[in-house]
Amino acid sequence: MLKNDQLEQWDRDSFFHPATHLAQFARGEAPERVIKTAKGCHITDREGNRLLDGFAGLYCVNVGYGRQEIAEAIAEQAKELAYYHAYVGHGTEASITLAKMVMDRAPDHMSKVYFGLGGSDANETNIKLVWYYNNILGRAEKKKIISRWRGYHGSGLMSGSLTGLELYHKKFDLPFPQVLHTEAPYYYRRADADLSEAGFTDLCAEELERLIEHEGADTIAAFIGEPVLGTGGIVPPPEGYWKAIQQVLAKHDILLIADEVVTGFGRLGSMFGSDHYDLKPDLMTIAKGLTSAYAPLSGTIVSDRMWRVLEQGTDELGPIGHGWTYSAHPIGAAAGVANLKLVDSLGLVANAKETGAHFNKVMTEALGRHPNVGEVRGEGMLCAVEFVADRDTRTLFDASEKVGIRIAAALLEQGVIGRAMPQGDILGFAPPLCLTRAEADEITGKTAIAVNKVLG
Ligand SMILES: Cc1ncc(COP(=O)(O)O)c(C=O)c1O
Repeated sequence: MLKNDQLEQWDRDSFFHPATHLAQFARGEAPERVIKTAKGCHITDREGNRLLDGFAGLYCVNVGYGRQEIAEAIAEQAKELAYYHAYVGHGTEASITLAKMVMDRAPDHMSKVYFGLGGSDANETNIKLVWYYNNILGRAEKKKIISRWRGYHGSGLMSGSLTGLELYHKKFDLPFPQVLHTEAPYYYRRADADLSEAGFTDLCAEELERLIEHEGADTIAAFIGEPVLGTGGIVPPPEGYWKAIQQVLAKHDILLIADEVVTGFGRLGSMFGSDHYDLKPDLMTIAKGLTSAYAPLSGTIVSDRMWRVLEQGTDELGPIGHGWTYSAHPIGAAAGVANLKLVDSLGLVANAKETGAHFNKVMTEALGRHPNVGEVRGEGMLCAVEFVADRDTRTLFDASEKVGIRIAAALLEQGVIGRAMPQGDILGFAPPLCLTRAEADEITGKTAIAVNKVLG
């Protein structure tokens, strides 16, 4: 096909890109990249550059690119039935089958799944359900939600409020007053360097307890957290964290929302982060790995105890006043069914565990002793390298030096995509779960070259 030479101009003139420096992009000062094709762990842009995608898009293309089984399932569904809604008890073979497949994989105490479109809207649904639940139980004051600094839960109004990153609040009049933030479970960045990991876990639990007591437990409805902090820096929790947090929540009758948008469907080497860290959530947010991003689809998985109250609510009030036109869209659902079958048949949860462990090991060996690397950390098919000006004192680089961004750019020059995480000098990796050891070694080797190029 002839290259359309106007495309860049159309892009700069017409397209409002998310998470982009709008002014620089429109002026032509920030690069544009047009992706054409993709296969396995590689994407190819329209200039013909083939890149190893160490972030699986936005940690979502879990089965890898170019899976014909999913493409065909989508095409079949579109031909047979492109759309029907899910209101008032309607379904499609695809949406019902996917619901069954999700519930077969979810922890035993979960009851039903509601389907949305993306992680942000699924978290909006969660908060509405939490509020509805407490209203039905006659607890009109119990409405505040506790999230963590550095948590990421989306960029809608409520989901953006839950997110604990400054960029998502500044000048947007967020967070909403019903949302409170507590300590990030980020051991490396603890204020007191002498604190042990167990001591830091105690500190996080105590902070939470203090916040609840300050606000009054009868005003706090729920706590939301990602099993592993994702966009906030790819940070596995300190030892014993989830056990300690769940004890505090249980004591104060506070619901737990596990945001499994990144961790769901295998990324940690377990089906869910809740399995991995022994969480017993009341709600689980799923998206990304549900369809491996072949079509937009998300979900809210509801526990038995919440479900019973939702049923009671509709007996009292009539049909639940919640739903989107595209809830449980059949094309997304068909993609989800084909995707989850592939996750099983390709053994991707096991590969995330095994190849992910290898990836973290070689990255630690390659960079763990570099004078400007504070920490190499990860879990399953997640890995991050955090850069510091001084390793002994954990002193940050000045933000104006843009160290993380420059290292990601140097890596890209070698044909590998890593993500400069939005807060701090952290290079993140979340490759497709089908990554091979050879690809893990390639990412690692090229990362080491990029780091040496930028930092010496
Ligand atoms: C943990 C988590 N929750 C929610 C979201 C929001 O999902 P979406 O971008 O699909 O709205 C994300 C996106 O990265 C996420 O990582």
